[in-house]
Amino acid sequence: MSIDSQSDTEVTQTLPSEISALVKQSIPKHVAIIMDGNGRWAQAQGKPRVIGHKAGVKAVRRAVSTARNLGVESLTLFAFSSENWRRPDKEVSLLMELFFTVLQRELKLLHNNGVRLNIIGDISRFSPRLQKQIAAAEEKTADNKDLVLNVAANYGGRWDIMQAAQKLAAKVESGEMSSTQFTEEALSEHLCMQNQAEVDLMIRTGGDYRISNFVLWQAAYAELVFTDTLWPDFDEDAFKDAIAIFANRQRRFGLTGTQIDTIRSL
Ligand code: IPE
Ligand code: IPE
Ligand code: MG
Repeated sequence: MSIDSQSDTEVTQTLPSEISALVKQSIPKHVAIIMDGNGRWAQAQGKPRVIGHKAGVKAVRRAVSTARNLGVESLTLFAFSSENWRRPDKEVSLLMELFFTVLQRELKLLHNNGVRLNIIGDISRFSPRLQKQIAAAEEKTADNKDLVLNVAANYGGRWDIMQAAQKLAAKVESGEMSSTQFTEEALSEHLCMQNQAEVDLMIRTGGDYRISNFVLWQAAYAELVFTDTLWPDFDEDAFKDAIAIFANRQRRFGLTGTQIDTIRSL
C-alpha cells in the first residue's frame, strides 16, 4: 500500500457518520427542481404561455408521485421566483390564479397520499385569500409523513438567507443571544426547511445552466442535473434518469476519490 492511500484510509476513520451515509446514498433524500420551460413548450405549439403553465401542473402531479414512490423524503419545487414579478402583469396574475385553483383542487389528493405541504417564500406579497388558503393547506397536511412537498413561491435563495440573518440579528439586538452565537449552525436553523435534509440533487429542466436564485445555502453540496426536457414533458422516466445520474456520481464533500472508495467499500 502506498503512503498516500494509507493516509487516505486513516483520515476516513475519523469522518463523521453523516458523510459516510451521504456518499452511499443512491436515492437522494431531498430533490429540488427548477421547473423551467413551460412558456417555450406552449409557444412551440403556437399556444399562449399559460397553456404551458397548465400543462406544467400535470408534470408536478407526476413528479410528486414519482418522488413518493421512490422514497424521496423531501421534494422542493420552484413555482414562482422573487424575480418572476418582473413578468407582464397578465402572466403574473394568471400564475397566481393557477396557484390558487391548483392548491384547492389537489389538496385532497395530496393529503390522501400522505404528503405534507410546506410553502417556502415570502408569501406576505400574496393576496390575503391565497395566504389563508396556504395556511389551511399546511395545517391540514401537517402530520403527513410520506413526503414533504416544499413549494417555493415568491422564493429567492438570497431572501431566505437574509430572513434568517435578520431573525438572528434581532435576537442579538434584544440580548437573547450573543454575537458569538451567530454561527453557521444558528443561521441554518433559521432557514426555510431547517428540519429537512439538505438538498442532495437539484434538477433544472428547460435547457439552461443556472440556479436562478433558487435554494443556495441548502444546496451547497447538491449534485446538479440539467436537462433539455421542457417541464411539461418531464415524466417519470425523465425523473428516474436524473436519479440514475445522481446515483452514478461520486460525491466527495472535499475528500479524495480514494477516501470515498474506502467509505463505499466499508
Ligand atoms: C417556468 O417556466 C415556470 C415559471 C417560471 C412560473 P417559464 O414560464 O419560465 O417557461 P420559459 O422558460 O419561458 O419557457
Ligand atoms: C426559474 O425560472 C423560476 C422558476 C422555475 C419558478 P425562470 O424562467 O424564471 O428563470 P430565468 O429567469 O430564466 O433565470
Ligand atoms: Mg423560464
